[in-house]
Amino acid sequence: MRILVVGSGGREHALCWKIAASPLCDKLYCAPGNAGIAAEAECVPIGVDDIAGLVAFAREKAIDFAVVGPEAPLVAGLADAFEAAGIATFGPSAKAAELEGSKGFMKDIAAKYQVPTAAYRRFRDPAAAKAFAATLGLPVVIKADGLAAGKGVVIAQTREEADSAIDAMMLDRQFGDAGAELVVEEFLVGEELSFFALCDGTQAIPLASAQDHKQVGDGDTGPNTGGMGAYSPAPVATPEIERRIMDEIVLPTVAGMAAEGRPFKGVLFAGIMVTKDGPKLIEFNVRFGDPECEVLMLRLKSDLVPALMAARDGALKNFDLRWFEDAALCVVMAAKGYPGKPESGTVIGRLDEAAKLKDVAVFHAGTKLNEAGAVIAAGGRVLAVAATGKDVAMAQAQAYRAVDAIDWPGGFCRRDIGWRAIARQR
Ligand code: AMP
Ligand code: GLY
Repeated sequence: MRILVVGSGGREHALCWKIAASPLCDKLYCAPGNAGIAAEAECVPIGVDDIAGLVAFAREKAIDFAVVGPEAPLVAGLADAFEAAGIATFGPSAKAAELEGSKGFMKDIAAKYQVPTAAYRRFRDPAAAKAFAATLGLPVVIKADGLAAGKGVVIAQTREEADSAIDAMMLDRQFGDAGAELVVEEFLVGEELSFFALCDGTQAIPLASAQDHKQVGDGDTGPNTGGMGAYSPAPVATPEIERRIMDEIVLPTVAGMAAEGRPFKGVLFAGIMVTKDGPKLIEFNVRFGDPECEVLMLRLKSDLVPALMAARDGALKNFDLRWFEDAALCVVMAAKGYPGKPESGTVIGRLDEAAKLKDVAVFHAGTKLNEAGAVIAAGGRVLAVAATGKDVAMAQAQAYRAVDAIDWPGGFCRRDIGWRAIARQR
């Protein structure tokens, strides 16, 4: 098969690494890819938002199967455009991707199909949003309806903070049109979990559990990021919790989306809060998480390609995925300044020495080559340094050994990825 992966992050590097290892894959392209992905795939300089360019390229190269990594092109209809051009595609249609593209839509689906989630209301008027926020306890959660690259959520600790977040999103359009509409919702208390299920429109199978680290600083301090590290499995996801997430959240949503005429095919990423009353849905994403994907790909023993094809073909019934027992852990190395203004262009050395360590994989998230052929930082999150081990503590030790082998004065990382699981282990 001739396969095209769309995207340029650590997630897409991990997907390419896994797909390139499949005996089904004869030729792999990645658009636009990055300096690390170039070792697995032929990178082509077409942006993820250039739908016409991607379709033309896929046609020209007779691509058999396309895999779309990020949410923005899915919400914009890339999977629909590929399919209309006769290119089989892993990833939801634009109508199904609204589960991530509109937080209000996602909440309405949850309400209609009795999926447990935080109490909420949708608003187009700032005064009404403030009035409703004042009826909820503190903290209160304010969300821009549309895509805001993971930044459109404010957990307001005071009424004043809630009011100014509403004004910033709606009146000042801090996130552009994404803030034309807001969701105001109740704050959920518990431990967060990333849950993934492959879906084929009517059926769903769970993937391994994972936990992300959203905040930039050790001990979960500082501003939110796209994710500073992840590990799998997540001990908070007991078999009982996983069963409840499938029965109470994933399967009702898949059935509901089919009933709405928006069958969901692809990977459904449920952000879950494990509360004292059980799992509740925080949000849906319509793609693999990043950096969760990196740890899932390290733990997946089965060939990924047939699984993705079965999801696209509506053939997940009785599909069985095998996982390695070992844990996997991934540390994100970001450019200094992230998540504000990351410094780009700094040179990264000794990547090969790190990658040579036992049970280590160094995924590139935002890199390119300079004229001298050196790898340089080109983004906020730059590397996803991953390792496996008998348990999370051993995977953590090995991942940090690899981090420490890399010579990159322009970067930084958290030193405590996996702390929740390791605290439980002790
Ligand atoms: P999101 O972009 O929706 O994933 O939100 C970003 C982060 O905000 C989530 O990962 C949670 O940590 C937090 N969050 C969002 N909604 C809620 C909520 N209703 N209660 C508590 N935390 C939330
Ligand atoms: N790591 C969280 C996300 O991909 O949205």
